[in-house]
Amino acid sequence: MSSSSSTLTVDDKSVDLAIKTGVIGPSVVDISKLYGQTGMFTYDPGFTSTASCESKITYIDGDEGVLLYRGYPIEQLAEHGDFLETCYLLLYGELPTAAQKADFDYRVTRHTMVHDQMNRFFTGFRRDAHPMAIMVACVGALSAFYHDSTDISDPHQRMVASMRMIAKMPTLAAMAYKYHVGQPFVYPQNELDYTSNFLRMCFAVPAEEYKVNPVLSRALDRIFILHADHEQNASTSTVRLAGSSGANPFACIAAGIACLWGPAHGGANEAALKMLEEIGTPDRIPEYIAKAKDKNDPFRLMGFGHRVYKNYDPRARIMQKTTHEVLNELGIKDDPLLDVAVELEQIALKDEYFIEKKLYPNIDFYSGITLKAMGFPTSMFTVLFALARTVGWIAQWSEMIEDPSQRIGRPRQLYVGSPKRDYVTVAQRG
Ligand code: SDX
Repeated sequence: MSSSSSTLTVDDKSVDLAIKTGVIGPSVVDISKLYGQTGMFTYDPGFTSTASCESKITYIDGDEGVLLYRGYPIEQLAEHGDFLETCYLLLYGELPTAAQKADFDYRVTRHTMVHDQMNRFFTGFRRDAHPMAIMVACVGALSAFYHDSTDISDPHQRMVASMRMIAKMPTLAAMAYKYHVGQPFVYPQNELDYTSNFLRMCFAVPAEEYKVNPVLSRALDRIFILHADHEQNASTSTVRLAGSSGANPFACIAAGIACLWGPAHGGANEAALKMLEEIGTPDRIPEYIAKAKDKNDPFRLMGFGHRVYKNYDPRARIMQKTTHEVLNELGIKDDPLLDVAVELEQIALKDEYFIEKKLYPNIDFYSGITLKAMGFPTSMFTVLFALARTVGWIAQWSEMIEDPSQRIGRPRQLYVGSPKRDYVTVAQRG
């Protein structure tokens, strides 16, 4: 990584600020000494121009619509690999050999059960509790169980906690679904692969044998690959900030789940499907496009737009292909929601407003149609996003812990409140 410098002049003061250049992508101006040298902060609400860290994990080129995990294009990983191979790549930085992959699969598989006491947390919820609320609670509760892997300064314990998190998310997600629909929990089966195991835990019932559909399992496994990591997005930044205080790793992941739930972030897949259902038929699309463009209307096209992608989200393209694959496999010839989605995309992409603001479909636009066709209720869509993103959160958390320059994250502010004033007794307040 090379560096040069820039000069910033504030009033009568000039300060030299180092410029750091990465392997690819924008360089950064190192402002870490700015306050000490000028008494001023930078100001960047929403962090549109702020790099919070150095990272080797994921690279996004928003203008070109490029997404690389450890340098490998998402299209190639989704085409040729499986989700646990992507987990290994994100955690260790290299694609596994056959022996390394077999060992990794074995280790994950043997951590899929949760402590039986976990079942008791579910009975406290109403059956109509949102599964994301259950996930925030239950993943946070894991921090009460595993005292043998919470010394985050110990690389071995960090890896044990990481494997447990990756392995147990499908089990907890399936339990959240089963509790929601009032069916008994189904335990993991070690002879099944990761995603087939998850499908069986969700859809098997004690009354009959459940046979995993390999086409659906492969499609869902690919969907997990697409959602695995995405640079310094809101939920990953939440996990990094929580982890920077040295908090329990399971509690940090629970914080990430809470942030992902928002409709502007991971909750958009649920919101996008509800939007498509509300639009209902293609003839009502112009009405909703007008609402999305109306500055006085808070309505936004859910599943459209992105802070980084100012081109087509490469994941959305793969997602769209997977949608057709799943609908074909299920014999769904004519899905009205897909008709609305395809028509909406075509109209929006030709509309001056969307072109000028560079708004394209993102990963959440098509995912809901696919997951609904697979049998998941809308309320489970963001849970599946959280299941897949857990490896990204864990990899980014580990990278932060191992970063020698790492310290607790503590932003400052521009204070616009009341100047200092004296207390007035209630008698004097009139
Ligand atoms: C994810 O960060 C990540 O990497 C996230 C993610 C990941 O993998 O972790 O990719 C996953 O969260 C995908 C995004 C899912 N969210 C949605 O689909 C919700 C709908 N989209 C938006 O709310 C919005 O596009 C965001 C939140 C995604 C991005 O917001 P920004 O970057 O803060 O952009 P903005 O809100 O400032 O919008 C810029 C302009 C605004 O108009 P002006 O004020 O400049 O006139 O574009 C408009 C917005 O009004 N705009 C939209 C729009 N998104 C932005 N107008 C209509 N419909 C939309 N969807």
